[in-house]
Formats: sequence, C-alpha cells, structure tokens
Amino acid sequence: MTPPGLRIRPVRVEEATELAALAARTFRDAFGPDNNPEDLQLHLATTYTPDRMREALQDPECTSLFAEVDGVTVGYAQLFPRQPDPPLGDGARMLSRFYLEQGWLGQGIAPRLMDAVKEDARRRGARYLWLTVWQQNHRAARFYEKCGFRTSGSTTFIVGNDPQTDWLMLCPL
Ligand SMILES: CC(C)(COP(=O)(O)OP(=O)(O)OC[C@H]1O[C@@H](n2cnc3c(N)ncnc32)[C@H](O)[C@@H]1OP(=O)(O)O)[C@@H](O)C(=O)NCCC(=O)NCCS
Repeated sequence: MTPPGLRIRPVRVEEATELAALAARTFRDAFGPDNNPEDLQLHLATTYTPDRMREALQDPECTSLFAEVDGVTVGYAQLFPRQPDPPLGDGARMLSRFYLEQGWLGQGIAPRLMDAVKEDARRRGARYLWLTVWQQNHRAARFYEKCGFRTSGSTTFIVGNDPQTDWLMLCPL
C-alpha cells in the first residue's frame, strides 16, 4: 500500500523556504475552513517563516524530515527538545509538526514517517514522544492512537488570537 517511491530524509538548511511554504500550505489546507481568516493569516505569517524554519534547521537539537514520493515532497515532520507545561521531565521529545499534503492522506505514508520520527527520537536517547492535537482533529488523533500515543490531558494552542483546546498525547518509545 505504501508508495514504492517513498523516501524519508532530513531537510537541508538550504531548503528552509520550501519547508516554510509546505508547512503554511498544509496547515491552511487542514485547518483553514475551521478558522477565522485573520487568526489563520496571523498564525501563518508568524509561525511558518523561512527565517524560523532556517533557525530550526540550523539547531542540532531539532529534527526536520521530508517525506518524498519519487522526489516530490508530500509531507514533513518536526521534532523539538521542548517540554510541555507543566514539564514532563528528562527523556521527552516533542513531535511538534506532522503534516501530509491532502492528496496523500490514507496512502501509508504517515506510518512510515512516524517510524522515522520514532527512530530519530530513540537515537537521541528520548524515552517518550509528546504532542498536542486539536480536539476537533479526529483523523489525526486516531492516527496517533494507532501509532501508540495515548491522551494524557489537554492544553491550549493559540491560532492567531484564538485559543483552542488540544489533547496532550504521549507515546513511550
Ligand atoms: C495526521 C495525518 C498525518 C495522518 O495521516 P493519514 O494518512 O491520514 O493516516 P491514516 O489514514 O493512516 O490514519 C487515519 C485514521 O483516522 C481514521 N479517520 C479518518 N477520518 C476520520 C474522522 N473524521 N474521525 C475519526 N477517524 C477518522 C481513518 O479511518 C484511519 O483510521 P483506520 O486506519 O483505523 O481506518 C494526516 O491525516 C494529515 O496530514 N492531516 C492533516 C494535517 C494534520 O492534521 N496534522 C496533524 C496535526 S497535530
């Protein structure tokens, strides 16, 4: 089922602009219809800039992965050495972003990208992954459950000026 031409690889620093464009596009495609346009625009303009992506790509503690099919980028994931509030303690690594292009959902790419995410986290000595997912995002929450994540609480995620409620999910490695 997984496309034979699938390849997961680290994003290069010189690809910061491409990563920022993919991140903004996939966020807008996934959540645009459910958000106020001004809040969405503010979020995109402040979060997914080439400069911020370059900063992450230059930070050896951060991981950014592209999923490509036959050389075409179809998704990405980013992991940061960040703690939730309240902190979970040593050994936690945040899966901050995990997005596919809409045309590639349900085609077996997400599980392979998650395998690569877990492999990276284990290699760095992490004992578990954590993430937050919007409570209305049932598809993503179901996918994370399939991958071994379990809900452990809720938290606030701000899109522009709009505070939204996310599930906090944990996955032992
Ligand atoms: C999250 C994401 C990467 C998962 O990849 P995917 O290819 O969709 O994942 P899968 O198809 O393997 O799994 C999705 C599961 O949700 C189920 N599902 C689909 N729509 C659903 C819905 N509305 N409610 C509940 N479950 C749903 C699917 O049936 C499948 O479960 P199953 O395998 O038990 O049938 C992808 O959907 C995506 O990029 N979404 C947009 C961006 C996003 O939301 N990112 C996460 C931000 S936290």
